[in-house]
Amino acid sequence: MCHLTQDTDENLLVGIETSDDASVYKITEDIAIVQTLDFFTPVVDDPYVYGQIAAANSLSDIYAMGADPRLALNITCFSDDIPKESIKAILKGGHDKVKEAGALVVGGHTVDDKEPKFGLSVTGFMHPSDVVTNCNAKVGDVLILTKPIGLGVINTGIKSGMVGEKSYNEAVKTMSTLNKFAKDAMMKIGVNSCTDVTGFGLLGHAYEMAVGSKVTIKLKSKSIPIIEEALSLAKMGIIPGGAYNNMNHIKNFVSFSAEVPQELADCMYDPQTSGGLLISVDKDKAQDLLNELKDSPTPYALIGEVVEKENHSILVE
Ligand code: CO
Ligand code: CO
Ligand code: CO
Repeated sequence: MCHLTQDTDENLLVGIETSDDASVYKITEDIAIVQTLDFFTPVVDDPYVYGQIAAANSLSDIYAMGADPRLALNITCFSDDIPKESIKAILKGGHDKVKEAGALVVGGHTVDDKEPKFGLSVTGFMHPSDVVTNCNAKVGDVLILTKPIGLGVINTGIKSGMVGEKSYNEAVKTMSTLNKFAKDAMMKIGVNSCTDVTGFGLLGHAYEMAVGSKVTIKLKSKSIPIIEEALSLAKMGIIPGGAYNNMNHIKNFVSFSAEVPQELADCMYDPQTSGGLLISVDKDKAQDLLNELKDSPTPYALIGEVVEKENHSILVE
């Protein structure tokens, strides 16, 4: 593994240096504890659905390390003017997702806050030698993405009432789906590197993988699964501010070929809520992983490859 923080504690297998999805601490030779925390403001009006999405998103960082979530603590920020039924529905949505993940809600904490927020702190367990970091992609690997992108654009469109029912349902299904199926598939096959695609967008998380792994990542823009309507919305300029933050952060390290349409590039920078796993797997195992993903609840695709480090960390063609 890369950049271990062995200077602070030899049992800390993954710390903060590599911007990985969760921290991993070895307890015994056979057990490592995996910890993460995530919460955010509502992305949809339906409180139950919001609870499901927030929980799926929080659980995702555990899956991205290759671990199984076991314990979850609710983090809630609500003010008195939110109806009790809404709060109940949010917590029920979260609880149902945690249960679906095979984990337990064992407590939580609420802070008074005008802007509602919900999420979880999640603890998982795994074998220390099974840890999948975000910085171990190997030259010759291929990259597989397990959910469509375009979620930030669609969510922005939802807020202004511009999204059709079909895309809304597609986005909700995508965001509320656990990354458990994808995680089980990758752990069965054995992969080199993984992260989940969330706030930094597909390009931001691919960039962290490329830099951490000291490689360049080549993406085939036409192969990337996307919620179709995100492209027309992006073309109209319905793009969340976070996409521009992501772009400004890494644009000097990303090279687009001239054929990539601007709206698709925008969607690649778009922050995702509860996005899919971005998996780097040995080319010889790629077909096995694709076969294993065959019954995936969400669209998935082989979207690129890992090459020797070049000037740019990411090449998009
Ligand atoms: Co993550
Ligand atoms: Co996270
Ligand atoms: Co990871």
